[in-house]
Amino acid sequence: MRNLIIAPSVLACDFLNIGSEVHMLNESAADWIHIDVMDGVFVPNISFGFPVLEAIHKVATKVLDVHLMIEKPEQYISTFAKAGAKVITVHYEACPHVHRTIQQIKDAGCLAGVAINPGTPVEVYEDIIADLDLALIMSVNPGFGGQKFIPNAINKTKRLAEMAAKAGNTSLKIEIDGGVTMANAADLYQAGADVLVAGSFVFASKDPKATIAELLSVAN
Ligand code: DX5
Ligand code: ZN
Repeated sequence: MRNLIIAPSVLACDFLNIGSEVHMLNESAADWIHIDVMDGVFVPNISFGFPVLEAIHKVATKVLDVHLMIEKPEQYISTFAKAGAKVITVHYEACPHVHRTIQQIKDAGCLAGVAINPGTPVEVYEDIIADLDLALIMSVNPGFGGQKFIPNAINKTKRLAEMAAKAGNTSLKIEIDGGVTMANAADLYQAGADVLVAGSFVFASKDPKATIAELLSVAN
């Protein structure tokens, strides 16, 4: 059985009680905490930045998985790394020099990820896949939590898993982000997903820790 990582997105947590939300995640079966950074330019929404990441870093015992939905992410890589990011994912659509940006993330001591929007084909990974630690397939258009899952993400996951195998990148993590629920988690895992991000499904549930455990159980 392949290992599965659940990465709850704090975008959907209670911001008035972010400390206790992070403590809850520390006690949960989630291995990563997903941090969505939005700049209001690359995506039509603004979320939060360095001070919030630094505050989370002070209490989190899990890997901080930072998803940058921002223009010119290369200008901020080292600052995100210093603020506590362990995984940094930039968008393919925001990076004209994506190969250089991947090296920059690695030089900062982080795992390097590249994300693609629903309208971007997985084939854009072809010439960078050997260098990547993580590939993030967006299963909603980025910018907001609580959107409906786009089923084509399952097909893209399969195609990407085949591409990674062909390229010999056996350690590549395939992460799926947006609209993940128990209705699609098993299909995504079977298609080749290694990391499932879940925001509203976890935080809007009565018992978030139990919901995280339930999502993880699709790998059993
Ligand atoms: C969307 C973000 C997601 C979001 C997921 O732009 O990248 O990480 O928080 O939220 P849900 O799980 O509610 O779709
Ligand atoms: Zn995200």
